[in-house]
Amino acid sequence: DLKVVVIGGGSSYTPELVEGFINRYDELEITELHLVDIESGKEKLNTIFNLSKRMIEKANVGIKIFQTLDRQKALEDADFIMTQIRVGGLDARVLDERIPLSHGIIGQETNGAGGMFKALRTIPVILDIVEDVKKYAKKDAWLINFTNPAGMVTEAVNRYSDFDRVVGLCNIPVNMKNQFGEIFDVDPETIELDIVGVNHHFFVTDILLEGKSSIKALLDMYASGELQNTPTMNNIESLQWSKSLIKSLEAIPNPYLNYYFMTKEQLKAEREQYEENNVRAEEVKNIEKELFQEYADPDLDVKPKALEERGGAYYSDAACSLVDSIVNNRHDIQYVNTLNKGTVSDFPYESVIETASIITSDGPKPLNYGQIPYKLNGTLQTIKTFERMVCEAAVKGDRDIAIAALTLNPLVDSDTVANDVFEELYQAHKTYLPQF
Ligand code: NAD
Ligand code: G6P
Ligand code: MN
Repeated sequence: DLKVVVIGGGSSYTPELVEGFINRYDELEITELHLVDIESGKEKLNTIFNLSKRMIEKANVGIKIFQTLDRQKALEDADFIMTQIRVGGLDARVLDERIPLSHGIIGQETNGAGGMFKALRTIPVILDIVEDVKKYAKKDAWLINFTNPAGMVTEAVNRYSDFDRVVGLCNIPVNMKNQFGEIFDVDPETIELDIVGVNHHFFVTDILLEGKSSIKALLDMYASGELQNTPTMNNIESLQWSKSLIKSLEAIPNPYLNYYFMTKEQLKAEREQYEENNVRAEEVKNIEKELFQEYADPDLDVKPKALEERGGAYYSDAACSLVDSIVNNRHDIQYVNTLNKGTVSDFPYESVIETASIITSDGPKPLNYGQIPYKLNGTLQTIKTFERMVCEAAVKGDRDIAIAALTLNPLVDSDTVANDVFEELYQAHKTYLPQF
């Protein structure tokens, strides 16, 4: 018996998960799938439940599916718990993106001031969920967290609860791997990446093609102009890095580094979206509306194409592969957020990093990386410190630490702005910030 519980089951991404489990059913026989949501998400949950049911019936697999608002009951004897919640919904994300912009700084869901407030709202809720998991789920259950900011959420669980069977997941490393597969015209399955950093702030420092180090070939393609852009996501603008930057770093920045290394250009683009009431959260609201209209069609029994417009498209591949490798002790390499445990010698031992890991039934075993290349070390340490401070602020309800973290963040241009933007975001999100 294998019981999976999805918390935030009303998410428009859930059909991806269902599709992933259906596709793997021969090797990963899930017996029960429970979709959990809250009162305000009831309608979405219902639509997702009905679509998922149709998908399962069409595929003719033996997964029993349930929907509920009773989290504790759903967690009873669970083997895997997946969290994909958005505390405060997209309305809160609109504020995370618009308020920083109104102060002249980047407004983004997982970075800078917006990312910090998403963490402050989310971490206490996730820690509550963890308490229920400890109480009701199987003793050896795993918590797989997609809830953003995924790195900070995973770090908070590790540092501030006594539950350590948690893995954080993001679709970006897999997406980059797939795009490198296209660039080199090889099956992405034959590619391994060396990555170093944290969620949404990492670099690819090597690409192994059937075990052969090939980063030089990639850097050369970029330098010669043969390759115009490094991989990106459809929620992030495709900007071109300078050849000097890529050649000298000898590493490929993940797409979110646009915000840090092209701040001026990103601000200009965001400013226009701000004026047009079309920041990403506002755009996503429209995409969601259409998606749910499609989902509600009683004739629909597969995952609709339109889901690909969301930045998180294909994340289910990462999620379902992870569950599969834990259940089947596959020992394959996946990219996850897990405790460093000394594998990157310059990061704290007990910090969460995003890293290539061997996935076993005992969870991820991060591959040894060694030292961070010195050119990348500064920015990575700054962000890791920011993340740690945000986790501490979220748990202790300490506004001084939160403000200081913002001031240290490269996307916040002065301590005065940090104080002002903190105050305004705090006032806007107060109902979701009981710890302050
Ligand atoms: P969404 O707004 O659709 O929210 C998902 C569901 O969570 C909603 O139905 C909502 O009602 C529910 N919810 C909110 N608070 C809850 C709680 N306390 N308990 C149970 N359910 C709750 O959001 P989405 O766009 O589907 O994204 C969900 C989360 O996943 C976000 O945090 C997002 O940032 C994250 N995400 C991460 C990745 C990744 O790469 N790790 C990819 C995609 C999305
Ligand atoms: C990428 C990131 C996710 C993020 C998503 C946003 O996939 O890895 O962590 O949640 O983009 O996409 P959206 O469509 O919500 O802007
Ligand atoms: Mn992500």
